[in-house]
Amino acid sequence: MSKNSIGVAVIGAGMAGKAHAAAYRAAAGVYDTTLPEIRLVSIADVFEPLAESAAKRFGFERHDTSWQALAEAEDVDVVSVVVANRLHREIVEGLLAAGKHVLCEKPLSDTLEDAEAMVAAARRADSIGRIGLTFLRQPGIAYVQRLIEEGTLGNILHVSGRYLTDYGCDPQAPISWRYKGPQGSGALADVGSHLSYLIEMLGGEVEAVSGGVLSTAITSRPKPLGNVVGHEHVEVSEEREPVENDDYAAFTVKYANGTAGTFEVSRVATGHANTLAFEVYGDKGSAKFDFDRPSEVRVFLNDGDTANAGFRTVILGPDHPYWRGGFAMDAPGVGVGQNEGFVFQARAFLEEVAGIPEGESLPRVATFETGLRNMRLLDAVARSAQRQGAAVAVKES
Ligand SMILES: NC(=O)c1ccc[n+]([C@@H]2O[C@H](COP(=O)([O-])OP(=O)(O)OC[C@H]3O[C@@H](n4cnc5c(N)ncnc54)[C@H](O)[C@@H]3O)[C@@H](O)[C@H]2O)c1
Repeated sequence: MSKNSIGVAVIGAGMAGKAHAAAYRAAAGVYDTTLPEIRLVSIADVFEPLAESAAKRFGFERHDTSWQALAEAEDVDVVSVVVANRLHREIVEGLLAAGKHVLCEKPLSDTLEDAEAMVAAARRADSIGRIGLTFLRQPGIAYVQRLIEEGTLGNILHVSGRYLTDYGCDPQAPISWRYKGPQGSGALADVGSHLSYLIEMLGGEVEAVSGGVLSTAITSRPKPLGNVVGHEHVEVSEEREPVENDDYAAFTVKYANGTAGTFEVSRVATGHANTLAFEVYGDKGSAKFDFDRPSEVRVFLNDGDTANAGFRTVILGPDHPYWRGGFAMDAPGVGVGQNEGFVFQARAFLEEVAGIPEGESLPRVATFETGLRNMRLLDAVARSAQRQGAAVAVKES
């Protein structure tokens, strides 16, 4: 990119929109100063007070109330799309057609048809379309990925994992876009869309899914009396609306290499606000990650010393991915959280937009093709559930 500055905007000032805004603000200050000037231009939200307060809070020049305003804005080069999944397609297509570089939140969309159209739009576009798969930027998860890729764990024999949340465990939690849409668009799409890419990162390509189960534990929720941001509770009406999609999902995957793994996701796992956890077992060793303790990874190495065998707790630090230079204070054990993942992601996206070559940059942000692949895996889970747990191939097209 020949421009000596990049103008940034965010659409959606809700829970994750604020994380994107904060991340763009921080992105130039992590690692060496290789980025051009980053101009924080606008935050847009249909709920204007939220757009206005987020713009002020994160130091953006202005706020807007529509994505079209950003598509038309000459001072905007890069836009994060951080609104309800069913709105992604229209906004992403409009922005790409206007020549903006787009970072879309996961899942790519709420239907395979829309996701396929978005892949086609990104292929046609002169600008860059990418999907944020934030947890790939967690230092602990990237460290496990390195252990697998470097062969430290050997051949992978078995994987298991879960993403348990409890934002829906209170029957008085207000209805929102998250509870609307067909079975499979609930917890499975919302938190399962993170598990889907981790499943293939850990064990390789998934061939088929079986044992799909979807359940809705709380079948109606009250209407909110105010604006709902993320999982927040607001005052609610006595009137209730039906919950249309899944609170819980479970499934087994069969990997192309013959191994298998079981997974579950929930939004009603009371007490687990944000527990993303997995274990990966290889013939040379194993690793366990649990987001309840994001600054450590448990590692077992099958090194023949049976008298002292056992899992060790590796405390993350500058010898692990993203750490050195990625924090103002990058000493071992300083700790890490989910918000840093958004910062590394914003940095990686801006590096690509700025034309910084791969190899001199953070790992590239995922393509829309990868986002579509993740949705196909989750679609196979929903189809398995419809067929009482039958095995369903993960469709290629
Ligand atoms: N990567 C992550 O860890 C992560 C975490 C949470 C959410 N997400 C994703 O981010 C997206 C948004 O989720 P959220 O929890 O922030 O939602 P949210 O409900 O908190 O916020 C969405 C915002 O979009 C606004 N909005 C609705 N229609 C709009 C429009 N046409 N133009 C502009 N603004 C509009 C709403 O007023 C609201 O403020 C979803 O795709 C979700 O899956 C990702």
